[in-house]
Amino acid sequence: MIEMEVLYRKYRPKRFSEVVGQRGVVETLRRAVEQGKVVHAYVFSGPRGTGKTSVARILAKAVNCPNTNSGEPCNDCEVCHSVDSGTFLDVIEVDAASNRGIDEIRRIRDQASYVPVQGKTKVYIVDEFHMLTREAFNALLKTLEEPPPNVLFVLATTNIERVPATVLSRCQIFAFRNLPESAISARLKEICAAENFKVTESALELLAKLAKGSLRDAISLLEQSVAYGGEVLDAREVRDALGLVPEEVMDGYVDALLGGDTDRVVEIAEKIESSGQNFETFLESILERCLERYKFTLDVRFLDVGRFAWNLSRQLKYANEKRSLFEAESLLRCQAARRSSISEKVKEEKPAPPLKEARETSKGEVQDEAVAETRESGLVEKVLRYLREEGDMSLYIALSMARVDVSDGEATIKVRKDHPFNLEILRKRQDEVKLAFAKFSEGPIEVSVEVDEQISDKKERENSSVNRHQLEELSEEERELAEKLLRLFPDRVRIEKTNGR
Ligand SMILES: Nc1ncnc2c1ncn2[C@@H]1O[C@H](COP(=O)(O)OP(=O)(O)OP(=O)(O)O)[C@@H](O)[C@H]1O
Ligand SMILES: [Mg+2]
Ligand SMILES: [Zn+2]
Repeated sequence: MIEMEVLYRKYRPKRFSEVVGQRGVVETLRRAVEQGKVVHAYVFSGPRGTGKTSVARILAKAVNCPNTNSGEPCNDCEVCHSVDSGTFLDVIEVDAASNRGIDEIRRIRDQASYVPVQGKTKVYIVDEFHMLTREAFNALLKTLEEPPPNVLFVLATTNIERVPATVLSRCQIFAFRNLPESAISARLKEICAAENFKVTESALELLAKLAKGSLRDAISLLEQSVAYGGEVLDAREVRDALGLVPEEVMDGYVDALLGGDTDRVVEIAEKIESSGQNFETFLESILERCLERYKFTLDVRFLDVGRFAWNLSRQLKYANEKRSLFEAESLLRCQAARRSSISEKVKEEKPAPPLKEARETSKGEVQDEAVAETRESGLVEKVLRYLREEGDMSLYIALSMARVDVSDGEATIKVRKDHPFNLEILRKRQDEVKLAFAKFSEGPIEVSVEVDEQISDKKERENSSVNRHQLEELSEEERELAEKLLRLFPDRVRIEKTNGR
């Protein structure tokens, strides 16, 4: 059976000039070899899959190859071949993540004092060397202070902050950078040409974007997509292959935000979560999608939604409750869209009546509510913004998922019956909520928290009645746990009976 070589290994660069990006690093090293000025210890720091190990191996070849040309290894001699195939005795790769201790470093120190077996210079490539224990660092430090002749250390790390300064001060440091999307897609294109893969430009762009700066990830994603795809790989197939949300869903989300369709937003959040996609990636692709749609329609609202999606994706990076925040922010956005479309309607249809009168004449009619809201909505939004800036996420989310009616110095917060956790938070912390409202309200303000009897999602209600029914069949101990879970996550928990134990 023929072993399939993993694509990214097959396309490991073999000489300095083949390395994508990292020009400063690569040129400095090539020149050092050319001029015989290679020092005895380098630190290669930078994100995953950006070329650290590859460059370390090229350097190892270059200092051992007898036929270098302008600092490049010849890639044709015994030495070059055996370094490439990993059989060269004087190039030793150590993974510090699994060999963290002092013994390993002692072993290296002892070995390093022997002259090279096959080549001119012994090269130690220590991967993730920030993982070494303190003792091991100290031992390494001694070696770096009195380096044996003809030994070269390349210490690679994705986490340079964790390396003691004493070690760094003895090495020449090179910073590898995330690769730009254009460089990644260009490299993917070369690989596709060499492998005879038929791939569209938009598929390449999508892969480059998803790789987030790592060329190794880009090549792996390409390989995965090709394994899945048909004759010609396009962006759609890449999405399918990688389990990303399809374009219709992205468009559905954008349209829901623009049209204020809250049910749709909740549905989509569910879909994203159940497909195992992450919310940040989804939002980043929304930005791209909005740009596309803007270019096509010149409708600036797409830019606005795109910016919203991007800001939200950045907020999500630091949030624990990603889905809740995603939902809360998207729902708020929907509400704002509804409000502005209603108030525009009001403006168009009739001159705005005096506010007070409008409220008195009738209750519950959309237009009147809208008028009241346009005046007061600023307050709720200010409070929400304040809570968010304070980092009070639980209060923020609870409030943003509630309906707030503000009138005549009184804010009534209505919480859906099926959000008992939110209700509990808002009740418990009612004083704080009041303070927050008072901060932005013009006059004195009272705050009350109520259960909103009106709104309840049909599906959720069904679900909870199913749950109620099932609860009875549980043992007491199980029931207690299940009830707790139901209370915390009213719409995420479903109790099911399984057969057997
Ligand atoms: N700058 C680059 N130029 C060309 N190919 C690259 C580059 N960076 C990564 N690659 C591709 O990705 C593969 C892995 O790269 P490499 O092992 O050098 O990354 P690394 O920085 O050492 O990553 P890690 O931190 O995960 O060890 C290479 O075999 C190559 O196919
Ligand atoms: Mg590496
Ligand atoms: Zn050679």
